[in-house]
Order: sequence, then C-alpha cells, then structure tokens
Amino acid sequence: MANLCIPWFLLLQFLILLGLECEAEVPAIIVFGDSSVDAGNNNQIPTILRSDFEPYGRDYVGGQPTGRFSNGRIPTDFISEAFGLRPIVPAYLDPMYNISDFAIGVTFASAGSGYDNATSDVLSVIPLWKELEYYKTYQTKLRAYLGDQKANETLTEALYVMSMGTNDFLENYYTMNERRSQYNIDQYQSFLIRIARNFIMSLYKLGARKVSLGGLPPMGCLPLERTTNFQDGNKCMKSYNTVAMAFNDKLNGLVVELNEELPGIKVVMSNPYYILLQITKKPSLYGFDEAAVACCGTGMFEMGYACDRINPFTCTDANKFVFWDSFHPTEKTNQLIVHIKN
Ligand SMILES: *[C@@H]1O[C@H](CO)[C@@H](O)[C@H](O)[C@H]1NC(C)=O
Ligand SMILES: *[C@@H]1O[C@H](CO)[C@@H](O)[C@H](O)[C@H]1NC(C)=O
Ligand SMILES: *[C@@H]1O[C@H](CO)[C@@H](O)[C@H](O)[C@H]1NC(C)=O
Repeated sequence: MANLCIPWFLLLQFLILLGLECEAEVPAIIVFGDSSVDAGNNNQIPTILRSDFEPYGRDYVGGQPTGRFSNGRIPTDFISEAFGLRPIVPAYLDPMYNISDFAIGVTFASAGSGYDNATSDVLSVIPLWKELEYYKTYQTKLRAYLGDQKANETLTEALYVMSMGTNDFLENYYTMNERRSQYNIDQYQSFLIRIARNFIMSLYKLGARKVSLGGLPPMGCLPLERTTNFQDGNKCMKSYNTVAMAFNDKLNGLVVELNEELPGIKVVMSNPYYILLQITKKPSLYGFDEAAVACCGTGMFEMGYACDRINPFTCTDANKFVFWDSFHPTEKTNQLIVHIKN
C-alpha cells in the first residue's frame, strides 16, 4: 500500500499544516543544547540554575517539576510526539530512565550552556564538549543494548536537534567582560559559528546524518530584557534582536556550507525568530493575553529559584501568557513554535 510519507525536514517545518506523520523515518531524537531543550540534566549537577521545584511543571503530567524550564513540555517533547515517538524526550542524567528509554530519544542539554565554554562556566553547567562526551558513552550503551547493526541504523537515521546560543550572548558576552574584551560582536558570532561547525562535523563523523540547527529567538523580547528597557515602556530591546538576526544569518550560511561539504548529511535550520516575534507582537492572534511580562511571579525578572511556589503574583492560567518565567516560554508557546515554524 502506498504510504504517504513526507521527508522529516519538511515535517519539522510544516508539522501541523500537513497533519501527517512518518513514523518509520526517525527512530530517535537526540538533543544537545541549553534550557530550551534541557529536560532535567541540571537536576543532577551542582549548579544554581535549576527548575526542579514548583511551580515549574505545574501543567506537566502529574503537575511534576522535572527540570524543564516551563510550566509543561518543551519544544523537543512536541517534536518527538509529532514523529510518532514518545511525548517526551528524557534527560540523559535522569536516574528514572535508562538506555531502553534513551534508545528512542534523549537530551544531553544543560540549562545555561552555550556554544562557548566560557558560557557554561558562568553557572557551572555542562559545556557542549561534555554533552558530546555523554553522547559518545550513549553510543556505546546503545550498541550494547540494540546490537551493533541496529544501533548504527538508529544513530544514522536519528534526528539530531541542536538548540543553544542565547546564553552565549545574554549570560556571557553582554554580562561578563572576558569575551567582550577579546571580540567585537561580529567576531564573537563568527567564533560561535566555528564551534557550531566543529560540533556538527564531530556528530557527522560519529554517524549523524539528519541535523536540525536551532536559530536564536528575538532575544530582546524576553521579559527579562524588556524589564531592563523600562525607560522605553518595556519595549523589546532592538539591539539584541538585531544581534539574533545577524547570528541566524550566519547559521544559515553554515547550514548551506555543511550540506555542500559533507556527503549524505542533511542539515536544516529551525528558525523560531519570526514566529516568536509575531507571537510577541500580536499575542491575541494566538490566544494569549500577555507577552511583555511572564506568568511566574511579577513576570519581570523571576526565573530559577526566584520563580517559587509561594509567589502571590504568579498567574493562574499560563496559557494566557507567552512566557512562563522571565526567560522561557510557556508550554503553549513551545507547542506553537514547533507546529508553526518559520
Ligand atoms: C530499564 O528500566 C526498566 C524499568 O525500570 C527495566 O525494566 C529494564 O530492565 C531496564 N533496562 C535496562 C537495559 O537496564
Ligand atoms: C572547550 O573546552 C574543551 C575541554 O577543555 C576543549 O577541548 C575545547 O577545545 C574547548 N573549545 C574551545 C572552542 O576553546
Ligand atoms: C557500527 O559503527 C561502528 C562505528 O562506525 C563501526 O565500527 C562498526 O563496524 C559498525 N557495525 C556494524 C555492524 O555496522
């Protein structure tokens, strides 16, 4: 029987529009990055950047705080579900899961991490090179679990999702002095792009063939940044958005190059910039009431430990808010950006 099957890269971009799924195409989702895609790795390391307490996870199954920086699921959970896999992608360091779970999806991401080693140092989180080391260990475990041949097939056919970069700018470059004294903003972007390139080359050598490289959001519209712009009526910080767009252009260039250079690879860029900008400019079109401040606490600066259960200002219905805490989208926004990309 003819199976109406569309390629995975189209699926990523037009997921719901087409309403089709190709279950056999992607046997596993393998994730690298920062808090946008961390499902709880930071719970297992000594860092203050955590979210494994209420009200995080308030709208997750069982109201559980898992370490996801949201009230519910994060984008990779929705991607996994849309590919007919599990509705969640578990964290590699989470003791609740083992290789039988990770065989169809795993995230090595760590909140606060970035392309730059100096970024992960700021809050002592897992640097990108170490995410890759974990991935290598995962390969060994997967081969032991599935057998060499099946494991190799899974590793080749899997979708590799990378989502990071915001922290390199906001937590590191614009906050700490070191990188700013070494590089101007354009040079720093190129420095990050070289790291992204090397990372994808390493993944390729290890067998990866399908890679989704995540672009930056309109960083200047994160509530935390808008709060610092209070003299200007909490508008989005234009300068940060400009940086995000410039970086996304460079990422796009990298994607084109890698597809030419590496035989058999397919790299796509998942750019959440325009859809997120549109949502923050016209929240009511998407059923939201509020985009400038977040649900948690006053919505102006709280995240991590500052976003706690007893804060009397926390909103009752997170679905009315674009942002859950001052840096991270609500589950509803996460679902939207997966389902209406670009
Ligand atoms: C993984 O965990 C499940 C449930 O806890 C257990 O039944 C299974 O044997 C474990 N698998 C491996 C390969 O350790
Ligand atoms: C980051 O640190 C790792 C481990 O020390 C090192 O191997 C790697 O070269 C560093 N990356 C960059 C871009 O400096
Ligand atoms: C699986 O991949 C590894 C690493 O590329 C390779 O050494 C091994 O021969 C492969 N095994 C099979 C059965 O394809």
